[in-house]
Amino acid sequence: MSDTTTFLNELTSLLGERGLVREPDAMARYVSDWAGDTLGMPIAVARPATTAEVAEVAKRCYEHGIAMTPQGGHSGLVAGALPAANGQELVISLERLNSVRAIDPVNFTVTVDAGCILENVKLAAAEHDCDFPLSLGAQGSCQIGGNIATNAGGLNVLRYGMMRELVLGLEVVLPDGRVWEGLDALHKDNRGYDLQQLFLGSEGTLGIVTGAVLKLSPRPTQSRTALLGLPSVQAVIDLYGLARRECSDLLTAFELIPRRCVELAMEATPELRDPMDSAYPWYVLMEVAATGPVDLGSMLEQLLENGMERELVLDGALASSDTQSAQLWQFRESMLEGQRQRGEHLRTDISVPISTIPDFVTQASEVVMAASPECEIIAYGHVGDGNLHFNILPPTAMADSDKKAHLHDLEARLFEVLDDFHGSISAEHGIGRTKQAPYLARLSPIERELVSGVKALFDPKGLMNPGRILPADD
Ligand code: FAD
Ligand code: LAC
Ligand code: ZN
Repeated sequence: MSDTTTFLNELTSLLGERGLVREPDAMARYVSDWAGDTLGMPIAVARPATTAEVAEVAKRCYEHGIAMTPQGGHSGLVAGALPAANGQELVISLERLNSVRAIDPVNFTVTVDAGCILENVKLAAAEHDCDFPLSLGAQGSCQIGGNIATNAGGLNVLRYGMMRELVLGLEVVLPDGRVWEGLDALHKDNRGYDLQQLFLGSEGTLGIVTGAVLKLSPRPTQSRTALLGLPSVQAVIDLYGLARRECSDLLTAFELIPRRCVELAMEATPELRDPMDSAYPWYVLMEVAATGPVDLGSMLEQLLENGMERELVLDGALASSDTQSAQLWQFRESMLEGQRQRGEHLRTDISVPISTIPDFVTQASEVVMAASPECEIIAYGHVGDGNLHFNILPPTAMADSDKKAHLHDLEARLFEVLDDFHGSISAEHGIGRTKQAPYLARLSPIERELVSGVKALFDPKGLMNPGRILPADD
């Protein structure tokens, strides 16, 4: 019997038939992601149901020298959760670790299994009049473990922070199968180095997150949503400055949407109607929310009045009900589907200081259009966090076989502009495999040494998600 067969037989007796998927057809759904990217076939897919089982699987992998791919809802956008093409990785899916363990509405915390789907955690919190504020398009499928591993951001970061600000405690299975129990529910804790934070954004390269204590907020009792038409990106950023001052910390979302995205949304969801009588080059989708007796309606109207007086806002649609608000948010969701339907395109998640966004968009657009006059730039995103998805659709006439190299070239040009602005090549999706080369190229020798040292400390055999963030042979 080969070593691999012995290993798989060990796993089957450990996890039972339900806990180990070995048939290629049954494995298919674990080898591709939302974007439709597929890399290869894993040795098998382990589906442990408890932390103890995850630990035991990791221990066997460590003993046999088998590489592990922790997998959540495979909505990640940098191919980190996909098994390698070499067919030598064991996918460890967290999908069966999906219980909400406990809620403490006085401490404002919820303790969850890492395989809980984000949407379910939000619903569980709402039952206790609390809110788990992380919100993103993939919330119906992404898991808390994936959100932690990618340090997910999303739509409400400007008010509540990224995942790293929403996690108080963690339980992690280390690559050798030992379990680090760090499930504290403390809002303040300054004991030495913050080991927990190392796992936020570690992309499954340091260990497998199996549980977490998350920070909740009071559930807003009211919110208002507006979609506004604006003449320029400069107007968007000026309005943002106004909104931060006039709505203070009740501003929960401030999203930039170009006209092209409104069109893509209507293409993907034909029931959507153009939100205003005229088309505008840029839109802002914004939201304010509060728990107390605040007059949000007046606050928003006052902001719009001021914005119009200063000729920042040209027109606006204000939602006056939850249904109307959901319709406005539908544009934000559908435009992603619209882009996906365009097939291969460049996705980025860069950040620059908020005040420099207008100059960055101008300069980056000039550089990209000079190199590829027929491509389409779609720059949208969480401008309140300085975070843009500066995406590029390749020329429609281009042969499919040429698209990858072309987009790669445009990405390099875009990142050069970004360097001039001292920006980040990844503000939210992480490095995974797809951003590894530009990431490594920008690490200083000191950073490289420290990053490699952290990896070696947690994962001395290099078995945990090899080839993501750092090269497999680092
Ligand atoms: P996966 O894709 O399964 O995995 C992602 C990475 O985490 C992989 O490297 C994997 O190995 C690792 N991992 C997964 N689970 C664990 C675990 N338990 N322990 C250790 N490592 C683990 N992201 C944003 O930040 N903001 C957005 O607004 C946003 N919007 C999105 C909208 C859409 C439509 C889609 C498809 C994606 C979006 N994303 C966004 C990206 C994605 O949803 C997030 O990165 C999400 O956090 C990934 O969670 P997941 O469970 O799907 O992880
Ligand atoms: C978004 C994802 C892709 O903001 O991060 O749409
Ligand atoms: Zn985003």
